Amino acid sequence: MQDRFTNKVALVTGAGSQRGIGRATALALAKEGASVVITDVVPESVQKVTEELQKIGPAMGEVADVRDKEAMRRVVRSLTDRFGGLDILVNVAGLTRPTTFLDISEDEYDLVLDVNLKGTFLTTQVAVPAMLQRGGGAIVSLSSVSGQRGGGVFGSSHYSAAKAGIMGFTKAIARELTPRGIRVNCVAPSMVDTDIAGDLLTEQRKAELGQGTLMGRIANVDDVVKCILFLASDESSYLTGVTLDINGGMHMH
Ligand SMILES: NC(=O)c1ccc[n+]([C@@H]2O[C@H](COP(=O)([O-])OP(=O)(O)OC[C@H]3O[C@@H](n4cnc5c(N)ncnc54)[C@H](O)[C@@H]3O)[C@@H](O)[C@H]2O)c1
Repeated sequence: MQDRFTNKVALVTGAGSQRGIGRATALALAKEGASVVITDVVPESVQKVTEELQKIGPAMGEVADVRDKEAMRRVVRSLTDRFGGLDILVNVAGLTRPTTFLDISEDEYDLVLDVNLKGTFLTTQVAVPAMLQRGGGAIVSLSSVSGQRGGGVFGSSHYSAAKAGIMGFTKAIARELTPRGIRVNCVAPSMVDTDIAGDLLTEQRKAELGQGTLMGRIANVDDVVKCILFLASDESSYLTGVTLDINGGMHMH
């Protein structure tokens, strides 16, 4: 067991889902010594994951929608009161819809863009002042291979647009914030075995998608968490503005 996050405070959004990337990231950060703050929109999930985290170390959870800037500001205020500041932000909250282009309603477009892209933007905007007060930190956001190759699995055009937006956003704020001590990076996973696609990710579909990779399998949550923790830690001390591919070789560019 490494111990890369002792005395660090980390905020992970979208960490409620039992089989999701957010919960696994939060638990991994806690196991390596971080004080961990999680958010999600599902109250029971927030409570459950917070209890799991508190068995490992200092942790708190808040029900907060990443689209709600005031709610996210309150989260940052309470974690600053409780833990003294913020060092690591992991923007995980996201969702997708498999709708084809001509059938996407404006409401669905807004939902997918707002949760994935605007939520990342707003959360980062309220988190950065707390990180600057600590003298710096690291931001890792969840993009997707969908933003690079135009979806094609479960995400559609709005999801691809949002995840491509996260890559541009990452580079833009890396330019502004790196000279001030905050490294900013994102990860672009291909299909990961979580519940994001609901019932659509059957065992047969997983096997088919695995064949499209050089690894012969889709990613598991741990494959992604390891990369997120690398970008959040000092091991990636000279990386900023990077999109780290986690796709088992299914998309090389
Ligand atoms: N699973 C994949 O194949 C895959 C691939 C590439 C990228 N990603 C990205 O990784 C991230 C996590 O995905 P996952 O597979 O763990 O999905 P998941 O559905 O298991 O988890 C997403 C979490 O975000 C929460 N959430 C949704 N809307 C929210 C909001 N408005 N405010 C706060 N929380 C909200 C959900 O309640 C859920 O707990 C997402 O951004 C997703 O787009 C996933």
